[in-house]
Amino acid sequence: MQIAAISFDKFNALADQEAQERIRAARARLGKRAVILCHHYQRADVFRHADLTGDSLKLSRLASQSDAEFIVFCGVHFMAEVADILSRPEQVSVLPDLAAGCSMADMASLAKVERAWRELSTVLAPDEQITPVTYINSAADLKAFCGEHGGIVCTSSNAPKILEWAFARRAKVLFFPDQHLGRWSGYRMGIPMDEMAIWNPDLELGGLTPEQIAKARIILWHGYCSVHQMFQLAQIERFRAQYPDGRVISHPECAFEVCQASDAVGSTEKIITTVKESAAGTRWLVGTELNLVDRLADEVKHEGKIVQFMGGVICMCSTMQRIDPQHLAWTLENLAEGNIVNRIVVPPHEAAPARVALERMLAAS
Ligand code: 13P
Ligand code: SF4
Repeated sequence: MQIAAISFDKFNALADQEAQERIRAARARLGKRAVILCHHYQRADVFRHADLTGDSLKLSRLASQSDAEFIVFCGVHFMAEVADILSRPEQVSVLPDLAAGCSMADMASLAKVERAWRELSTVLAPDEQITPVTYINSAADLKAFCGEHGGIVCTSSNAPKILEWAFARRAKVLFFPDQHLGRWSGYRMGIPMDEMAIWNPDLELGGLTPEQIAKARIILWHGYCSVHQMFQLAQIERFRAQYPDGRVISHPECAFEVCQASDAVGSTEKIITTVKESAAGTRWLVGTELNLVDRLADEVKHEGKIVQFMGGVICMCSTMQRIDPQHLAWTLENLAEGNIVNRIVVPPHEAAPARVALERMLAAS
């Protein structure tokens, strides 16, 4: 018999130290029944409880390979949705705080993408000429849209490869929601800038003329990450002036000019491995979220490496930050008591086509 879930009110006021102890105790009770997956942006007081860590691609693979009954996702909503879609039906995907969303993912909705598809059909035949490609930072219904329209999902670590997959099938790509990842990946493939057009979903025909649409090879949704848009070229220029031997690495969600001025561009996992594999004593400027940069700086300082944060102001992923030790303790204690809280369930009519688009990605990357 399932007993009533323990209310979060009892955990809200928990002192941090007590929350840590209760996480450890609940984990011990759950044993191998639960696995804790943590994205690299997760705050340190939660990250330390991770069984497995990674970027979005690695975490989606890990979720699909896990045998645990409960997949506790310390990340954001779309990541827990992917875990639900790729895991077996009897497995349960849980997001410790349902308010942990992704503001970039919210910039494209199914209604707006369907409207774009309809409007594009006044100029060309989208289902024959355009492959829809959604960044994994998107809701499950958009992944389902891609699955149903011959499209695919990509992540920050495989986007150019996925674009190649898309162009092997149709002449054009509609890329949503992150314009920067789409633009950078297109540029790396050699697509000229004037063949990448911005689709503004609030304007008729995306604010484009039929001629611009006919010319575009990639139509970029007007979306962006509020964290990565804080990084600026001037910050790199200042760093290079001060440390001519320093190296710069950025996430592809950064603006084009930031990526272009960087020595390397890559996913969170790539940023970490590149810095870890660099020569002792290297100084790095890193353009991605602060929790990752702080942790990385700490992990490599014994090799004399210096890791600096690119931002002039503190920029954290405030939504991911919502998963705190109190929410993790509450989630795990409930699971240990037999109460499933904050389960993320993608309805079957969305999960099936979304899985198609995700499996195309996993096979192509
Ligand atoms: P990664 O897949 O590189 O971890 O990126 C996810 C993300 O949301 C970056 O903002
Ligand atoms: Fe979304 Fe940006 Fe947070 Fe990544 S850092 S999860 S893109 S809001």
